[in-house]
Amino acid sequence: MSGFEYASAPESKAIANIATSYGLFIGGKFVEPKNGKGFNTINPATEEILSKVGYADKLDIDLAVKSARTAFTKVWSKMPAKERGKYLYRIARILQERAREFAVVETLDNGKPIRESRDTDIPLAAAHFFYHAGWADKLDYAGLGSKPKPVGVVGQIIPWNFPLLMLAWKIAPALAAGNTVVLKPAETTPLTALLFAQVCQQAGLPDGVVNIVTGDGITGAALVNHSDINKIAFTGSTEVGKAIARSISNTKKSATLELGGKAANLVFDDAAIDEAIEGIVNGIFFNQGHVCCAGSRLLVQENVADEVLEKLKKRMSLIRVGDPMDKNTDLGAINSAEQLKRIHDISNTGDAEGANRWSPECKLPSKGYWYPPTIFTGVSQSHRIARDEIFGPVLSVLTFRTPAEGIEKANNTMYGLSAGVWSDKGSKILWAAKQLKAGVIWSNTFNKFDPASPFGGYKESGWGREGGRHGLAGYLTSQVKESK
Ligand code: NAI
Ligand code: MG
Repeated sequence: MSGFEYASAPESKAIANIATSYGLFIGGKFVEPKNGKGFNTINPATEEILSKVGYADKLDIDLAVKSARTAFTKVWSKMPAKERGKYLYRIARILQERAREFAVVETLDNGKPIRESRDTDIPLAAAHFFYHAGWADKLDYAGLGSKPKPVGVVGQIIPWNFPLLMLAWKIAPALAAGNTVVLKPAETTPLTALLFAQVCQQAGLPDGVVNIVTGDGITGAALVNHSDINKIAFTGSTEVGKAIARSISNTKKSATLELGGKAANLVFDDAAIDEAIEGIVNGIFFNQGHVCCAGSRLLVQENVADEVLEKLKKRMSLIRVGDPMDKNTDLGAINSAEQLKRIHDISNTGDAEGANRWSPECKLPSKGYWYPPTIFTGVSQSHRIARDEIFGPVLSVLTFRTPAEGIEKANNTMYGLSAGVWSDKGSKILWAAKQLKAGVIWSNTFNKFDPASPFGGYKESGWGREGGRHGLAGYLTSQVKESK
């Protein structure tokens, strides 16, 4: 299609020093799980086993929570705030120094293109530590009460789509606010969290301030239900988010929940179409569409729909699918066999319900988990592909006639995490942003992130915010101004 072929440009794996097995990181040391159990993590692009990691159960969770409690009461909550800040700066700098190593390990374990782990995940993770390092000694001036206090020991559970970045979103604000943590990475992507544990050792972080326990949903539930946890911070599916909310409903535990999304990307007829095409592609095909705020519902004004679709198909034909370690790859591997099955299952309902599927011609590798970039046209609001989170490279295209109809369709979802607005008119963008029920709204761009900007949702997209001053608030108590 393009006329030019790209020569392969593979990133070297040599820098990734992945051990054959890892224990749990508890109290500043790697220890074997009490039950002696472990499980493999694989490279989803090749199905090769990368390493075996420990499987934590209740006993290990108890040890990790105890170590976090001791570190909280004896060390971290007593330390002058500016000293805490120094550790965060140190961690941020080490992440920068070891960025290439982290990017390679992330891509091998997750399947995302090296271009994205190198240029987005790792730099943003370091940025979150730099940003929150700055807050550590300024909490009294954050407008969250005169002397806000840490909540205590925080249990943190993260998903597999942005493993190190989600770790940074969770750990950086928690530590800056004076909390200690027990973090559980997702079962398919534990390696960068374990590498991060080594960074904590390298930074001389006091033992027990960060504990990392690997395992599955049962491990996660044990953390949620531990009686000495003060707060749960979770990112993942709405289903598990609801289960967590139920489990803690009778306790004093607080929670922030970052859940699913089905974001509308609204293209008005006065938009700069070529730019909008780039935004649509970035919105749904970035990170294989494994993005909670992905622009997975394209809403195009009817009079420009033909032009948008024609240009979109042309652009999609240029997406390079394949080896995530190749620096030219745009779309990497689907993270797991389970996720690939889920993408197939939901997408197949699109065919069954009468929508029209289109994918560019592309050769998928024979090993590993792959799904081609796909769009569905002729989608109506009642179709499952317009309602459920597919969490893959699949875009549902709907049309609207008037701006008011566009907004109504955009808001017709149980989610409300993000939205995009494409228009030439500032007044229309502001008008639309005001009507859209979504936590983050991008105008004439998509998927832009910054540690200073709060992120979170309406409705079933979750509770609370992460990032910025709003995110810090979730890790502090006594937010009400004291009257003395
Ligand atoms: P999940 O919600 O099951 O997993 C996320 C994390 O929660 C993992 O660390 C997992 O081990 C843990 N977990 C699972 N069950 C738990 C429980 N009962 N208590 C505590 N922790 C538990 O997500 P999964 O199964 O990997 O993906 C399913 C779907 O969820 C995806 O297709 C996608 O639609 C959505 N999802 C959304 C994410 C987001 O960023 N909003 C991230 C991951 C998945
Ligand atoms: Mg893996």
